[in-house]
Amino acid sequence: MGSQTPLPHIFLVCFPAQGHINPMLRLGKRLASKGMLVSFSTTENYGKEMRKANDGISDQPTPVGNGFIRFEFFDDGLAEDDPKFSKLDEYMPLLELVGMDLVTQMIKRHANEGRPVSCLVNNPFIPWVCDVAAELGIPRATLWIQSCAVFSAYYHCHNKMVPFPTEAEPIIDIQLPGMPVLKHDEIPSFLLPSDPFQVLGRAILGQFKKLSKSLYVLMDTFQELEPEIIEHMSQVCIVKPVGPLFKNPKAPKTSIGGDLMKADDCFEWLDSKPPTSVVYISFGSIVHLKQEQVDEIAHGLLSSGVSFLWAMKPPGKAFGTEKHVLPDGFLENVGDKGKVVQWSPQEQVLAHPSVACFLTHCGWNSSVEALTSGVPLVTFPQWGDQVTNSKFLVDVFGVGLRLCRGRAENRLITRDEVAKCLLEATVGEKANELKQNALKWKKAAEEAVAEGGSSDRSLEDFIDEISKITYVS
Ligand code: UDX
Repeated sequence: MGSQTPLPHIFLVCFPAQGHINPMLRLGKRLASKGMLVSFSTTENYGKEMRKANDGISDQPTPVGNGFIRFEFFDDGLAEDDPKFSKLDEYMPLLELVGMDLVTQMIKRHANEGRPVSCLVNNPFIPWVCDVAAELGIPRATLWIQSCAVFSAYYHCHNKMVPFPTEAEPIIDIQLPGMPVLKHDEIPSFLLPSDPFQVLGRAILGQFKKLSKSLYVLMDTFQELEPEIIEHMSQVCIVKPVGPLFKNPKAPKTSIGGDLMKADDCFEWLDSKPPTSVVYISFGSIVHLKQEQVDEIAHGLLSSGVSFLWAMKPPGKAFGTEKHVLPDGFLENVGDKGKVVQWSPQEQVLAHPSVACFLTHCGWNSSVEALTSGVPLVTFPQWGDQVTNSKFLVDVFGVGLRLCRGRAENRLITRDEVAKCLLEATVGEKANELKQNALKWKKAAEEAVAEGGSSDRSLEDFIDEISKITYVS
């Protein structure tokens, strides 16, 4: 790599899911661009998809800004369509068992080959990575890929510091420091006693057992977005807001990406549309709406008459869900007013001047990407942190209109509701107010990640600490 002193080596271990890979890889590129050697690791099945869909996924160090990034995957022993992937109560322990052993071996090999790892970083569903780091005596950090508000909700629930819904009392309001009162269906749904995905809640809460005053918690948020909550949680661990991670002023043009399928080209079509006229629609990488709900959205789009770009991903191989179909004659009726793709280059789509608003499931990545690209949102959360994100987008950040409350509501959102909400978010006074607020957050985010901004300083502090440890040991 042409340098006498070896670069500090940061090893990222990522849970295999698109919504986790994107922020972790973005962190990797930010660290690399600031002069680190970064290794990015997740399971081989996901590595295979990443290699197919992107350039630059190599085990050799590839230059990014002042540093380098390389990829190294480990085999969880499952075929890519193994149904265990969708049975998380079986998959999570298996991943832990295999991962602990293989990650330990990789770290030891790097030490033997003269590239010792200076810091091991995980994301929330794989808290066992912290144990690997402790066992090997390596500093550890966690990348929290959701909002600080959601971090606080899990923390207060784990430590039983405020009352949360129980089977006996399922419908209560929740008051957490520095935030508005949350209704029972506005806390991360994995914490509800009735939630079918409690295994995910347990996996996330596992991370909170490993919280200590010495643990760095890097967060894909920024100081100006959640000031009071960040301040409060900083009393518990070393919170470093370093977001939004998708904005990387030092290496804006790197082609290394984390998509699991190739993005379709949307730009010729977007270029043909007037400024601020298109509704972009995506429900992220996991949410699978009922077919009836897809029908209602399609009819709502038709009757609203808005132009739209709809990213309609195919169902995951291991999940056994049916591919969505559009109503008969829908595409013919829509004509050039609409475009449906399987997977969009979302970051660039949100930056396109034709996009007026984003109908979204409110995954944190999508929420932050839109908010900090100056794009208002129509919120259609389903579960997990999405319901909390929706609350904040609408009632705190002032950039969203709420179209649904989430799976707990168990209600079909009708075509009329869809049409009314999309029109309100794209034209008129409310649309203008949302847009102005979104532009304010865009500017604040750009300042946060620029040299000397709050997120840039947080990342520099982290790098300084890791570099000190590297060169002293
Ligand atoms: C999951 C959870 O659902 C979410 O609630 C949590 O905050 C993170 O993990 P996911 O549902 O995939 O994530 O949503 P999201 O967080 O929005 O991440 C999706 C990512 O895929 C985004 O970075 C988005 O830019 C990207 N994407 C999505 C595309 O690039 N193209 C698409 O067509 C759709």
